[in-house]
Amino acid sequence: MQKPKGTFDIIEDIQLYHMIEKTIRKMTKRFSVQEIRTPHFEHSELYHRSVGESTDVVGKETYRFLDRGGRDITLRPEGTAGVVRAYVENKLYANPQKVQKYYYVGSMFRYERPQKGRFREFNTFGVEAFGSGHPKLDAEIIELAYRLTFLLGIQPLVVHLNSLGDAESKTRYKEALQAHLAPHLATLCDDCKTRFETNPLRILDCKVDAKHEALLTAPKPFDYLVAEDKDHFDQVVRYLTAQNIPYHIDDRLVRGLDYYTHTVFEIKTDESLLGQQNTLCGGGRYNHLVEALGGPSTPAVGFGFGLERLIVAIKAAQKEPLTSELDVYIGALGNEALEASSVLATKLRKQNLSVESSFEPLSLKAQFKQSDRLNARFFCLLGEDEVRAGTVSIKDQKTKEEATIKQAQAAFYIIDKLTHDQTCVDCEEGA
Ligand code: HAM
Repeated sequence: MQKPKGTFDIIEDIQLYHMIEKTIRKMTKRFSVQEIRTPHFEHSELYHRSVGESTDVVGKETYRFLDRGGRDITLRPEGTAGVVRAYVENKLYANPQKVQKYYYVGSMFRYERPQKGRFREFNTFGVEAFGSGHPKLDAEIIELAYRLTFLLGIQPLVVHLNSLGDAESKTRYKEALQAHLAPHLATLCDDCKTRFETNPLRILDCKVDAKHEALLTAPKPFDYLVAEDKDHFDQVVRYLTAQNIPYHIDDRLVRGLDYYTHTVFEIKTDESLLGQQNTLCGGGRYNHLVEALGGPSTPAVGFGFGLERLIVAIKAAQKEPLTSELDVYIGALGNEALEASSVLATKLRKQNLSVESSFEPLSLKAQFKQSDRLNARFFCLLGEDEVRAGTVSIKDQKTKEEATIKQAQAAFYIIDKLTHDQTCVDCEEGA
């Protein structure tokens, strides 16, 4: 049996997932964002009313089915719609804390053509912030996304930024774009012919027509912003500048989902790392979605990261492979020592150290090899002499330091060395 196309097993990379999740929890705490978990499937109507009927994500890529009770169900293709549904259904808007920020980490499902950085089941980290239309919130959300990417050691990094404006600006732009494209309609691809009526903005990021003269000369959303929307965008830019976040104004950026208003952004890394799927994060404002799903008018802004793309980028940016985190390997020579190793392992585990040990009386060389393979920081040896004296020989594989100490002292000795290493781990230049 083989796994379905576009899916993957996480085995060797699990440490990277843990590291990313740890960094996510650290950053979300700093920005006072709380976790929310919503279902992996929702009523299909939710995505049709939010992400939009005419988007590729809903129109072409959903895993949609009737369940055994005849309900029209869709596996979530993205996280925003579910979180907004939960925000409305649980009346979170009634909370006296007006600005509420939520994050989620989990699988999304899209029936896309699999390639590097593009899967049919993938993991995302997303943040959705409700309750303020102020540009400061746009900038704070972009800052969180940027700082996280930076902290993960990914370079180079560029925040691409644009504004679609609110309803009036969007309508003005849509009309201008349609007027510009109309004379070229016959020469656009079949998908774009349909998009012309249903969702003309999507034509701008069509892969087939990317080099078409009509697209290269197309009007830019920015030039159709009404004064108020332009002011919002200027303020976002001012906040980002003040926070020292490098950005690039990309006046062709429109994003593929229907709900966006005002700011849209993407964080990209180099194509040499991720090929064409070099967008690590995408997001923006969506001021009308809460209302569209039955809640009170509530401005909101958020983003989503693809974890698999982060992993490719982290690996490419890393000089050394990420090592496993085994603290101690206990080698034993002889049956008596094997028994003693089990007792020592328990003592060390009680002190929260990760421990692996031999399960048969192997040669010293074979046990050293096992320890190396597991990348253990400390190799502890129990032989006949040690068992008799109640001691253990410990070798620090990093510093090559060796010592023979009482078994009862072993945990403190090791913890002392590990704590010493921790002193400078948290340096976060740029964060
Ligand atoms: P999105 O751009 O469709 O936005 O997806 C967010 C991120 O998920 C992308 O930047 C990419 O890294 C990753 N991604 C998307 N599709 C795939 C795939 N097939 N395989 C692997 N990774 C993928 C959203 O989903 C919005 N909900 C983001 C948002 C939140 N906007 C406001 N709030």
